[in-house]
Amino acid sequence: MGSQKQGFIWISGLLFLNFLLLSVADVHYYDFFLQESQFTKLCSTKNILTVNGSFPGPEIRVLSGDTVLVNVHNQANSAVSIKWEGIEESINGSNDMIQPGRNFTYEIELHNEIGTLWWHATSAWASATVHGALVVLPAVNEDYPFPTLDSDQTIILGEWFRQELTQANQTIASGQADAYTINGHPGETYGCSNDTTFDYQVNYGGLYLVRVINAVGDTMIFGIAYHSFTIVGQNGAYSRRSFRNSLTLAPGQVIDVLLCPNQNLGHYYITARPSSDTTHTTLGILRYATTTANTNA
Ligand SMILES: *[C@@H]1O[C@H](CO)[C@@H](O)[C@H](O)[C@H]1NC(C)=O
Ligand SMILES: *[C@@H]1O[C@H](CO)[C@@H](O)[C@H](O)[C@H]1NC(C)=O
Ligand SMILES: *[C@@H]1O[C@H](CO)[C@@H](O)[C@H](O)[C@H]1NC(C)=O
Ligand SMILES: *[C@@H]1O[C@H](CO)[C@@H](O)[C@H](O)[C@H]1NC(C)=O
Ligand SMILES: *[C@@H]1O[C@H](CO)[C@@H](O)[C@H](O)[C@H]1NC(C)=O
Repeated sequence: MGSQKQGFIWISGLLFLNFLLLSVADVHYYDFFLQESQFTKLCSTKNILTVNGSFPGPEIRVLSGDTVLVNVHNQANSAVSIKWEGIEESINGSNDMIQPGRNFTYEIELHNEIGTLWWHATSAWASATVHGALVVLPAVNEDYPFPTLDSDQTIILGEWFRQELTQANQTIASGQADAYTINGHPGETYGCSNDTTFDYQVNYGGLYLVRVINAVGDTMIFGIAYHSFTIVGQNGAYSRRSFRNSLTLAPGQVIDVLLCPNQNLGHYYITARPSSDTTHTTLGILRYATTTANTNA
């Protein structure tokens, strides 16, 4: 009887220890398949290099302090390597190209990083289509230093070139994009009725964390008509709060903002354009849900 009880206590202790270890840091494993995929934008179809056939690439979401293993399988025709922006620790293999037909596993140990980071191919031509977000959420026993969010949304500003981008044909230059994109959508600006538009639905009175990543090779200006933002983080760290009507993002910069939809119910344009060219704006839509019912009071 006594030894049974001791055994129970011992096992509970082990389970508790295990729980503690699990809640301190997790190891997450992901597969990235680098492959050529067909996309139609601006009324024409071409092949682009992607991760898992998506543009932008898949988002990784982990908790602060976790370890992330990303096994990149190169099924394309060119050597590629992935750069992990905003990671403090140096990552083994990040200077080596992964040859076609080979794979390599990046081991990313997170320490103080929090908020939004991103990854992209190292060469500019490949980076135009091979990129995605790495979102680091607060650890289990930590909170955001701001009120409870309704949800968060990643917005990746990208660019689209009509020409084929390959290792042999990488004449992409700053300001030369044929279109700018919001999460891969060129929107209605470019006169191609087949182009899709980024559509973001929110509730009046809600609180949203919007993670804006500039994957474009130019400084970009981002805004939402009649709405303003409170900056709360930048490049994988919390930052001093500041209030903005629009955001200016340097190439590669990430800004996390709070958005509080407080206007009349309706649709508002989300805008993104290079700072050097006021005539070249891509549009998305911020859409208020038609009911303001708050389900969790
Ligand atoms: C990429 O695609 C593979 C195969 O479909 C899948 O197993 C893997 O989970 C995907 N990776 C991510 C990060 O979504
Ligand atoms: C655009 O959409 C129309 C109708 O859905 C389709 O017939 C046409 O082939 C599309 N064009 C391109 C370039 O994808
Ligand atoms: C770093 O990666 C190389 C392959 O690129 C491997 O040979 C080496 O063992 C790795 N070193 C460590 C410390 O993981
Ligand atoms: C390549 O992928 C296999 C599993 O798909 C894995 O066992 C192996 O460790 C990977 N090699 C490298 C260098 O990451
Ligand atoms: C590079 O792209 C341009 C524009 O799409 C095309 O005219 C040219 O033939 C391509 N060159 C090579 C080497 O693929």
